[in-house]
Amino acid sequence: MRKLLLIGMGPGDPNYLTLQAVEALNRASVFFLPDKGAEKAELKTAREEICRRFIKSPDTRFVSIDIPQRAPAGDDYRAVVDDWHARIAARYEALLTSELADGACGAFLVWGDPSLYDSTLRILDRLRAQGLAIDYEIIPGITAVQALAARHRIALNRIGEPITITTGRKLAAGLPIDADSTVVMLDGDETFAKIDPADLEIYWAANLGLADEVLISGPLKDVAADISRTRRQVREAKGWVMDIYLLRRGGKAKA
Ligand SMILES: C[S@@+](CC[C@H](N)C(=O)[O-])C[C@H]1O[C@@H](n2cnc3c(N)ncnc32)[C@H](O)[C@@H]1O
Repeated sequence: MRKLLLIGMGPGDPNYLTLQAVEALNRASVFFLPDKGAEKAELKTAREEICRRFIKSPDTRFVSIDIPQRAPAGDDYRAVVDDWHARIAARYEALLTSELADGACGAFLVWGDPSLYDSTLRILDRLRAQGLAIDYEIIPGITAVQALAARHRIALNRIGEPITITTGRKLAAGLPIDADSTVVMLDGDETFAKIDPADLEIYWAANLGLADEVLISGPLKDVAADISRTRRQVREAKGWVMDIYLLRRGGKAKA
């Protein structure tokens, strides 16, 4: 049986790797490195740097996987994603069967943690359901959510209150009326600048753990324009930006 390690690598800075992840890096003989094209080359470079720094065996092999582009999300977002996953699964299957010998151990370095807005697990489960004989193990990583809280020096929740983690797409459809603390990811549309800012505090970060990391916080009505401007500057400077934010009702209480 082939084995795969899904290693959470944290959100960019190699220093976010856990000791368990470093140990796992040295258990795998083949690494599968997703290639999302020039725009995301720095994400591939971050993975390569981790491998260079922490893998001791000179015999470890690296296999690049071209990740197909997702079609623009139309009305049927789930169908578009399902089709995209099917195409990625076909690539994974071809490479896993040709590049990983029976009994060998391979690995994926998953951005942040595999449990949060990442499709690697779902694609692997799809392949197993289709009959691919492969076992896997998950090594948890630090998520962008944790890095956001650490860099802003905030607790995510207030005492006894819940935290919602959602996407820009869902936020555009409306904040839940009782949301106390809401973390928003995958927001390419600057939805924070389009919602009613009354009574909301924002803690925003772009490119956490990377050289051009930026943090901005304050009342949403005061800082939304600054965040939009900064976000565009970061994106123009290198072609892409990853950002995440916490929205909190009722001002800057850190309780
Ligand atoms: C596809 S999700 C992957 C999340 C990842 N699995 C995790 O555990 O953090 C990508 C989103 O995560 C957030 N993100 C990931 N890395 C980030 C970083 N270094 N700085 C800011 N946001 C980041 C952004 O909201 C981005 O749109």
